[in-house]
Order: sequence, then structure tokens, then C-alpha cells
Amino acid sequence: MKTLVIAAHPTLEESRVNRRWLEEIRKYPEQITVSSLYEKYPDGVIDVAAEQALVEAHDRIVWQFPFYWFNCPPMMKQWLDEVLLQGWAYGPGTDVFHGKSIGVAVTAGVREEDYAPGREFRYEIGTLLRPFELTAEYVGAPYEEPFVQYGINSRTSDEEIEASAKRYAEHLLNAKPFEPLSHAGALQERA
Ligand SMILES: Cc1cc2nc3c(=O)[nH]c(=O)nc-3n(C[C@H](O)[C@H](O)[C@H](O)COP(=O)(O)O)c2cc1C
Repeated sequence: MKTLVIAAHPTLEESRVNRRWLEEIRKYPEQITVSSLYEKYPDGVIDVAAEQALVEAHDRIVWQFPFYWFNCPPMMKQWLDEVLLQGWAYGPGTDVFHGKSIGVAVTAGVREEDYAPGREFRYEIGTLLRPFELTAEYVGAPYEEPFVQYGINSRTSDEEIEASAKRYAEHLLNAKPFEPLSHAGALQERA
């Protein structure tokens, strides 16, 4: 099982958590490949063929990003828009994601208890991440339970970040077995 982490942090040099996460998971190149979009493509031009080849060479894809305005940063969305092309990711005769799983790994400033009905942000983060879940299903991959580090702010200690980096590496290294979707693009059939 080889995992591809597609990471998108627009200001990685200022990041505390995503930067530490990437540093930690880069210790396991046999099991985990990191494709850090803003580092790889400083001019903002994604090499679509190279990204597709990376997907094809892995069994599990994880989209990693800081939660910005209840969404992903722009280059993560650009990756989805430009790489997940009809005829390759979905559409008749495509099965590139068959047998692969997709997950997200997200860092958030808001505390977990505030992403809840009756609290300030009303929705659980899993609900806010539904577009990623549906995208995974649309291309025919089962969607994993999101890995989330909540409540990051300037008071978050280095020890907490260190612990979260270790938990993240463990999460990536210990993939749970999954059932492939019975056919690619279950949602496409209804489109
Ligand atoms: C432009 C911007 C928008 C943000 N929007 C959200 C948000 O919608 N929800 C949230 O929980 N945190 C939000 N945050 C906080 C970031 O998610 C948090 O600072 C980041 O995940 C920390 O990770 P890092 O140390 O890798 O940057 C936002 C931060 C920025 C800079």
C-alpha cells in the first residue's frame, strides 16, 4: 500500500502544523510520497500529466491542507479541477481510481467542539468537507474518515504539534482496509 499525499499550503514557510506534518511524513519515502503543490509549482502551473502519473502509481490518495474559509486553499481546488479530467478520472471506460481510496487531512483553527450543531460554526467538519467526499465517490474511490487537527492557534504548543505530526504519520502508515466501490463513478450513473 503506497500513499500519495497531495499537500497545499500557500505560505508553507509560515506554517507550523502542515510544515511539521510534511517533515514527519517525508521520513517514510517507501510508504508515502509527498506532492507539495505550492512548493512544486511556485508559478502556479500544475503539470497535469505528472500529477496523473503520481496518482496512477499509488493506492491511496490523501488531500492535505489547512482549512481556509471552510474550504481548501486555491491550489488544492486547482489540482482537482485540472487533474481530475473526464476520460481519465471519470467517464465511460475509466477506472483509474478503482481499488484506490481517497482521504483528507485538514488542520483547523476552530476547536472541535465549536464545529457542532448549536455551537458557533453549526456544522461538523465532516459535513463541511462533503464536497471532497462526493468528489472521491464521483471518481470511484471510497472516502476515508477525515484526519483533522482542530484548534490550532498561536497558543498551540510545539509539543502538541509534535504529537499531531506523529499521529498523522501513524494514520498514513496504518491504512485501514477498505472495500473498493463496486464500480467507478457510482454517482456518475445518476448524472
Ligand atoms: C485565510 C485563512 C482562513 C482561515 N479560515 C479558517 C476556517 O474557515 N476554519 C478554521 O477552522 N480555521 C481557519 N483558519 C485557520 C487555519 O486553518 C489554521 O491557521 C491552519 O490550519 C494552521 O495550520 P498551519 O500551521 O499549517 O498554517 C484560517 C486561516 C487563514 C490564514
